[in-house]
Formats: sequence, structure tokens, C-alpha cells
Amino acid sequence: MSDKKYKRYLITSALPYANGPIHIGHLAGVYVPADIYARYLRLRGREVVFVGGSDAHGVPIPIAARQQGSTPQQVVDRYHGMIQRSFDELGISFDVYSRTSSAIHHKTAADFFKKLYSEGKFVEKASQQYYDEEAGQFLADRYIVGTCPRCGDGSAYGDQCEKCGSTLNPTDLINPRSTISGSQPVMRETRHWYLPLNDYEPWLKEWILEEHKEWKANVYGQCKSWLDGGLQPRAVSRDLDWGVKVPLPGAEGKVLYVWFDAPIGYISNTIELMPGRWEEFWKRDDTKLVCFIGKDNIVFHCIVFPAMLKAHGGYVLPDNVPANEFLNLENDKISTSRRWAVWLHEYLADFPGKQDVLRYVLCANAPETKDNNFTWRDFQDRNNSELVAIFGNFVNRAMVLAHKYFDGKVPPVGTLADVDRAALAELRSVKPRVEEALEAYRFREALREAMSLARTGNKYLADTEPWKLIKSDEAHVRVILNIALQVAASLAVVMEPFMPFTAAKLRRILKADSDMLPWEALGNPDLLPAGHALGSPELLFEKIEDEAIAAQLQKLELAKKENEQNGAGLPPVK
Ligand code: MF3
Ligand code: ZN
Repeated sequence: MSDKKYKRYLITSALPYANGPIHIGHLAGVYVPADIYARYLRLRGREVVFVGGSDAHGVPIPIAARQQGSTPQQVVDRYHGMIQRSFDELGISFDVYSRTSSAIHHKTAADFFKKLYSEGKFVEKASQQYYDEEAGQFLADRYIVGTCPRCGDGSAYGDQCEKCGSTLNPTDLINPRSTISGSQPVMRETRHWYLPLNDYEPWLKEWILEEHKEWKANVYGQCKSWLDGGLQPRAVSRDLDWGVKVPLPGAEGKVLYVWFDAPIGYISNTIELMPGRWEEFWKRDDTKLVCFIGKDNIVFHCIVFPAMLKAHGGYVLPDNVPANEFLNLENDKISTSRRWAVWLHEYLADFPGKQDVLRYVLCANAPETKDNNFTWRDFQDRNNSELVAIFGNFVNRAMVLAHKYFDGKVPPVGTLADVDRAALAELRSVKPRVEEALEAYRFREALREAMSLARTGNKYLADTEPWKLIKSDEAHVRVILNIALQVAASLAVVMEPFMPFTAAKLRRILKADSDMLPWEALGNPDLLPAGHALGSPELLFEKIEDEAIAAQLQKLELAKKENEQNGAGLPPVK
């Protein structure tokens, strides 16, 4: 797997719906891994554009507006701002974070549609859809509720029953009702444009199943089952008054389907970032396009969007789509509507300065190959027994001893004993291991390898006990502390993609700037020259007490109670 042919990297991360705040499920699945990857590539001197943005369209937005008694525009403005600020505070290093309500996006998406339309790439079809006669509008699947034919739950949506998880069609619902007027909807004919995915099936089979066998098993498997099942034409428009208007005469009241316009948002946002250069990134085959998403987005990014790009022509296709599975919270499915989540903005307010603890825990426990579970106890454990007890403790010991014995200067290295050579060998082995894991999108493994360096350092000091040796063998203590400080310096390098705030703090403590600590030098035993004056010792992490965890658990209990009382998340029926 050579990356030599690639001159630049285009990294996209799913555009979150601007209908609610970001939660830990989004972060663990998409944004933390995408950010680690982007930071890593930049450290390696690669040219990177990391694209983010809010998804302003789709039925979730008007639904949220209805529930909150505001307009779709107000909902988007409110959450877009909130999402953008919280990402920024967590250090998600987007090169651009825009939204699909921008004028550039509306034009880009409309032009994309028009090109496909004028080249005859769509088929136009009439179909019967539910229509609300009282409200005078067609009803999106999510606007229809009724009884689930599978489990009998009375509050199933037209596209899905949240109780039993079944995928539904609106016509499957028993006793359907419109959530807008509460009335019983009627069938009415409507016309839409469809992308005939079936025509792209042979090509998709070849491109994914033969040429991308290296994709993650969960991604490849989902694609294979879609492709084996046979693809159908997909409507790319909807009867809705919120979204990108279908740019054709006589198409009043119709907008592009959100899953048609949203991925084009990656392109629009790149145009917004670099109006003169965006085509270099999107249209040259020496660009590596990597799309970070959650598993519910796989079909759209691996099948629909590539078919759109192929139909249009001239665009690069994703080289990889390293989708993650889901993160649960305290053994329960995370849900924005049921308010079962840890919200990023609340975390940032409750744990100021602890961005990296969250980044660490979400990466160490990322749902890479299967669904995983976040618990506050595990969060506390990982902080206290890994970050504090291993990483923080090691750095602090090395710093305190260097100040105590050597006046805060890096001692010169002398004759090495076996134990020192073993530590140096560990130090050297970290770079290739971390790089290999990161290039293969195995972020948990990469972080584990990075942390193993802290473990090595910690164990090295515990084994050699320089505080005892100082009386009998000061020469060896010089060697030990030189090596320990070199390990600390390499930690400042290797942790930068994962925990950028901590890496910066560590550089400050070591009084070594990033010029002194380039990625390429990771693992070198001479990052800090003998005689280099260190900064003063400072703790990298602090213990998280039981009270803080209890408060979070209580908050969740409260949300659960409120949900049970108010039935939050149940479709509002007048
Ligand atoms: N808004 C969608 C979601 O939250 C993701 C859109 S990703 C894009 O599931 F590709 F369409 F932008
Ligand atoms: Zn059901």
C-alpha cells in the first residue's frame, strides 16, 4: 500500500445535522479519528485539506423547528454556531467548517443536478405519496407516525420504528397520522427525479468488491450486502419547502433530497476555502480522498455519492471510507431525540481544560470494529490509571529528578547498560508502529502504541530507581535521565495528533518548540541536546474525583426521568 502516488489529501467528515449539539457518539465515530488522521498527515508534511460543515437540510431540521417553535433557519443558525464553537474548542482542526445553507453550496449543488439532468442521467417517475390535505403538503416519511406492523408500537415513524429498529415504508404503518395536522394522510401522485443506481451496479461491484478489498470489514461487508441485494433507482428530489430548490422550471415545492445535496457540501466547502485551487483537490487523481463517517452513512458514501461523482465525471472517488460502528452510552443507544447523550458543549463546560481526556478516552475506546460502550467509570479509570498514573507520572518524575540532580538541565549521556539499551530500542520502535496503524485507520492501536512509550518510560524509571542510584552511581543516573527526557520529548511528538493540548503543554514544560521536535525525529535519542535547560515541572493531568463522575451520572438519570415524564422524542401529534 504505497502512498507515493498521492500528492495531496482531501479528508472529509460527515456533515452533522444542525438540529442538535454534537455528542460523544459523533466524536468517537467520526471527528476524533478524522482529526487524528489530518493532524498526523500535516505533521508528516503532506498537503491536507480537512473539510467539515453542518448539514442544514433534510427533514430533521424542520422537525426540530416545529418542536422548538422556531423556523428551520433559526434552528440551523443556533446549532451551526454551537457545533462550530465546540469543535473548535475540542481542537478539531478543520481547514473549513461551513454549512449547506451557504449560497456557494446552493449554487454548487444546483449546478451538479443540472449537469446530470441535462445529460439525461436521471429518470423521471410518478409515484404515490402520502399527502396532508389539511396542511396542504406532501409528507416526508418522518412526518408520518403510526403503529409499527412488526412490534405494535404506536409511535413508529414512516421510515423506521425506533422501538424495534425495523426499517419501514410509510405505507407499512397501521393507522398513519400526519404529525403536522394530526389528520389521516391520503395518497396523491407526485413526480421525482431518480438516479438509476442499478445502471452503476456493475461498475460499483468492480470498484468496491474487487478494487477496494482493503476497506474495513464492516464497510466492505455492508457494501457487499447492498450490492448483492441489487440496487434500485433512488429519488434525488423531495416535496419539501426546505433545502436546495430543484433548479428546473415547474419544479416549485421540490427540493434536492438531502442525501443528494449534503455530500456535495464537501465540494462546496472546499470551494469556499480555496476558490482558486479547489479543483486540484477534487479533480486530480493524485489526490487521496478519505471520507470519515458513522456506519449509518455507509451506503451514501460508498454507493450513492460515488455513483453521483461517476455520473458527473471528472471527480476523484473516495480512496477509503473508514466508517466506525456506534458508541453506546452507559449500555444504552445514544439518541439526540431521547436526550441520551453526553453533549460536547456541556462536557467542555463541566471539565474545563480536559479536552484531551475526552479525545483520549474516545480514541482508546473507539467503536472501530464493533459497537462500543462509553461509561463514566471507564472515563475516570482511563484518566486516573492511564493518563495520570502512567503518562503524567512518568513525565513528572523525569522533570522533578532532572531539576533535583542536574539543575533542570538535560544531563549528558555516557556508557549504556543493558537496561538503557532496551529502553532506547523501545523508543526507536514507536514511530514505524504508530505510522503503520494510522495509515491503516487503526486509531486505537496507534494510540496504544503511543501510550506504550509512556509505559516504557514509566517502567524504565521504576526499574532503574535513579533516586536510589544517585548516591552510588551518579554517572548512570545521568544516562537514565537523559534517556527518560528523550522519551518525554518523543511523547510530545507522538501525542500531537491524539492529544494536541497535552503535547503543547509538554513542549512548554520541556522548553522545546515544534521545530526542535519534528515528526521525522520521533524516536531519536537526541531530541534534547545535553545541557538543554528545561522548563519547570508541571502536572500534565489531574485525577478525576468520584464526585465529578457521580454528578455526570446524576445528570443522565435526570435526563432519563424527564424523557419518561415528557415523552421527549415521541413524535408530537396535535
Ligand atoms: N447529516 C448526515 C448525518 O448526520 C450526514 C451527512 S454526510 C454528507 O447522518 F455526506 F452527506 F454530508
Ligand atoms: Zn416496531
